[in-house]
Amino acid sequence: MALVTFTNPEYRDKTVYAVAGSHTQTVLKLALENKIPINFECEDGECGTCLVKVSSIDDKHQRMGGPLTDKEKILLLELGKITKDQIETMHVDDLPTDWRMACQMIVRDEDIRVQY
Ligand code: FES
Repeated sequence: MALVTFTNPEYRDKTVYAVAGSHTQTVLKLALENKIPINFECEDGECGTCLVKVSSIDDKHQRMGGPLTDKEKILLLELGKITKDQIETMHVDDLPTDWRMACQMIVRDEDIRVQY
């Protein structure tokens, strides 16, 4: 069971449980199920509207690595949120990136903070 805290300066933080391990539940799906007013349009990694910043809930835990979807890589490159070198490093060292597309990021079994 993962805890996901959604945070936005205009709203109160909301922490929800996520059933991790289904390998299908995206951050966007989780947000919508819990009435988090997150921006989205296409729900398919095409528009860039659902850009979120993801971090570990505390400094003690190292976040899990990617993987970014191909659509996500293209969008994050276009938006200037990631470089090709960073993508390469993520693959080699299995590191996470701060910026994600909520409709593409699958919830994993880790506690995270999602800024939207
Ligand atoms: Fe369009 Fe996520 S809703 S990229």
